[in-house]
Amino acid sequence: MRIVITGTSRGIGLELTRQYLARGDTVEAAVRSGSQAAALKHLEASSSGRLRIHTCDVTHDGAVADFARAIERADAAGVDLLINNAGVMGKPTSLEELELADLHAVFEVNAVGPLRVTRALLPLVLKGARRVIVHMTSRMGSIDDNRSGGAYAYRMSKAALNMACRSLAVDLSDRGVTTAVFHPGWVQTDMGGLHAPTPVDVSARALIEQFDALSPEKSGRFWSFEGNELPW
Ligand SMILES: NC(=O)c1ccc[n+]([C@@H]2O[C@H](COP(=O)([O-])OP(=O)(O)OC[C@H]3O[C@@H](n4cnc5c(N)ncnc54)[C@H](OP(=O)(O)O)[C@@H]3O)[C@@H](O)[C@H]2O)c1
Repeated sequence: MRIVITGTSRGIGLELTRQYLARGDTVEAAVRSGSQAAALKHLEASSSGRLRIHTCDVTHDGAVADFARAIERADAAGVDLLINNAGVMGKPTSLEELELADLHAVFEVNAVGPLRVTRALLPLVLKGARRVIVHMTSRMGSIDDNRSGGAYAYRMSKAALNMACRSLAVDLSDRGVTTAVFHPGWVQTDMGGLHAPTPVDVSARALIEQFDALSPEKSGRFWSFEGNELPW
């Protein structure tokens, strides 16, 4: 398979890249900034040309357009799986301390970014054999599941991403595209912290299993890394 992943400098994106390469897939890996790609460059050395590293800040129209062109130039074949993984937490402040500029910035990465990348890469996904697009959301974006409040920027941005995915599923179904949102667990990464219960390799392995098993009837729905359907 040929797989595109955003936010691959560290965390879940880096581990997904590592595991896909290990099983023989080709990965077009995007990093926000070239200077953050040390771990990926290490993987590149042993990838036999199956890892290509691109610079792409998902908040910039120009960078995303360049990314799409670079993927097409690298190989005229389509993209089988697009993984919108890049994300930020923002400052988990109280209502009183919330800075609206921070809320806008988090929205740009978590909600607008995946839609921007999806639209730019859609022609390549349509040329792919599987036509699958997945987005990394969070249980914190579930309105139904919100019992603890707070985290306005993160929760609101992931809820917006969930809605975008649902519209994409409706709009693209007649073009054979399957798309869904996934909660990766509470994972030991810079974002999840050291005390998170799920090691990053366990989350990535389970996610890959779920992505492999994704079928049109699961499109437009909210799934956990363990394959359980989550409430919106
Ligand atoms: N960890 C968890 O417990 C958890 C739980 C639920 C959902 N998630 C979701 O899972 C995804 C991955 O999380 P993670 O834990 O791996 O986070 P992480 O360790 O903080 O890594 C985030 C990745 O996103 C990249 N990124 C941030 N802003 C970007 C931008 N504007 N353009 C392109 N890339 C950008 C970062 O690049 P830089 O290195 O350049 O900053 C980094 O590679 C996120 O969408 C997150 O919301 C995580």
